[in-house]
Amino acid sequence: MSVRGRFFLISWIAFVGAGLISWVMPSFSLSFLILVPLFVLGITDCLQTSHSVRRNFPVIGNLRYFFELIRPELQQYFVESNSDGRPVPREMRSLIYQRAKLDNESVPFGTQRDVYEASYDWVNHSIFTSKFPEEELRFKIGGPQCTQPYIASRLNISAMSYGALSPTAIEALNKGAKKGGFYHNTGEGGISHYHLQGGDLVWQLGTAYFGCRTQDGRFDEVAFQQKSKLPAVKMIELKLSQGAKPGKGGLLPGPKVSPEIAQIRMVEAYKTVVSPPSHVEFKSSDGLVQFLKKLRMLSDGKPVGFKLCVGKKWEFIDICRAMIRNDIYPDFITVDGSEGGTGAAPLEFTNHIGTPLNEGLHFVVETLRAFDLKDRIRVIASGRVFDAFQLLIKLALGADGVNSARGMMMALGCIQALRCHTNHCPVGVATTDPGLYKGLHVPSKAERVAHYHEKTIHALKEVSEAMGIQSFSNLSKRDFYRRIDTHTQSNFEEVFPTAERGILLKKPDQLSPYWRKFFYEEDSFSSDLPVRA
Ligand SMILES: Cc1cc2nc3c(=O)[nH]c(=O)nc-3n(C[C@H](O)[C@H](O)[C@H](O)COP(=O)(O)O)c2cc1C
Ligand code: SF4
Repeated sequence: MSVRGRFFLISWIAFVGAGLISWVMPSFSLSFLILVPLFVLGITDCLQTSHSVRRNFPVIGNLRYFFELIRPELQQYFVESNSDGRPVPREMRSLIYQRAKLDNESVPFGTQRDVYEASYDWVNHSIFTSKFPEEELRFKIGGPQCTQPYIASRLNISAMSYGALSPTAIEALNKGAKKGGFYHNTGEGGISHYHLQGGDLVWQLGTAYFGCRTQDGRFDEVAFQQKSKLPAVKMIELKLSQGAKPGKGGLLPGPKVSPEIAQIRMVEAYKTVVSPPSHVEFKSSDGLVQFLKKLRMLSDGKPVGFKLCVGKKWEFIDICRAMIRNDIYPDFITVDGSEGGTGAAPLEFTNHIGTPLNEGLHFVVETLRAFDLKDRIRVIASGRVFDAFQLLIKLALGADGVNSARGMMMALGCIQALRCHTNHCPVGVATTDPGLYKGLHVPSKAERVAHYHEKTIHALKEVSEAMGIQSFSNLSKRDFYRRIDTHTQSNFEEVFPTAERGILLKKPDQLSPYWRKFFYEEDSFSSDLPVRA
């Protein structure tokens, strides 16, 4: 007999049995309170056509969906070891929570890492420790073409839109940024009231130009000019791509476009909005730098930059050439790694598209150096930077500062339940459901965001002192090591070599085979300057 048949047989026996017992013992009739809902559930399972498991195994088939639902929690609470857990390992999550709550963050008994395992990284300390100056923990963004430079922290809040995050989450992040003196990137969803809580903002413009767009989705100069002059807006970031889904546009379904979101983003309420995969305002590297110039001019000289995940190398080289050709330079470039986070993205995009952060950062930094642009453009890195050592590695590779998205979400109370895309975030961080986001207590979470930042920057200072350096410009890639296998290690200079300054301004045939391959993915040249179109 099929399980379905057995379900009807058992139901019949249960109902008849319960009826007979209730006849002699009336209080037993309460059992119908359980039997009737289970029977209705079983009938619904049999009649529905979407799930074969439920159809074939009425009632008990639902257990599969229940366990699937709580799989991340089961994994986290019962299976995962300290170094397991993706995307943020348990060890890092615990550290962020401890720092955010000002709990004891020291660990007992020594490292749990296998220091002889391939890809283990470490840094050499000095016998002669240093006193690291406080002013080194901040850096100036704004080249000669900018009239309102900004002094940024080495660690900041990465782009996350209002809509992807809840209003209370945005408010707590912004208040945290104010308390700790670091910036808060708005993400591409525009500037909301929740962003204006006193913290410094980087206003991000994506391909849909939310907050400064015309009805047909083009860039609206007047709206941009007005909002970019808000005192809270310290810098402007043009998003070209994002590591978790490079080359992928977005779609905000009509039902999610509430009147409030519509007003912030300058779109029609309850109408689906499409973010194209690339910009409609420019179609070439020259167009990009000219657009950056326009943004700087309209914002009265605030620092402007762009964010990208490195894809085709020649395109970035072409952008550098366009900077020189047009004599227009961004004030900063944000390099996002393919390991970066997102609210929602297709699996192929998150898993396999775009360059991981270390390689992307190395490429951007060395290309800028090779065009002799490194000193005038600041580089900001993002992608799984959670502690001070990871931050220091990015600085050693040539970044000036880092942005963190998921680290800051953890400081807000994210438990990595991995439901950001369902609107059912249990802790009210990534949801638009008031029943959930009202549970996020803004004042205490703002404190936690500020504490996480403060403690991580403090750890950065302590590690730098242990290395005996007094400036991040003294960081040497030769002090950082990576284990290749049990018996061999390489220093970071060997893994991520430094290019000679200005080498790409010379003839390419003067490049060594290594750098030809690095910049142009070719071993040799038959023609001059291979800028492909
Ligand atoms: C919930 C969420 C929303 C995001 N929204 C944006 C966005 O609007 N614009 C953008 O450039 N990046 C966005 N990102 C990517 C982050 O800004 C950042 O580049 C990436 O997550 C870096 O990795 P991290 O989370 O490891 O720090 C988002 C990330 C998350 C987790
Ligand atoms: S707790 Fe919320 S924000 Fe964190 S991963 Fe889960 S759904 Fe996303």
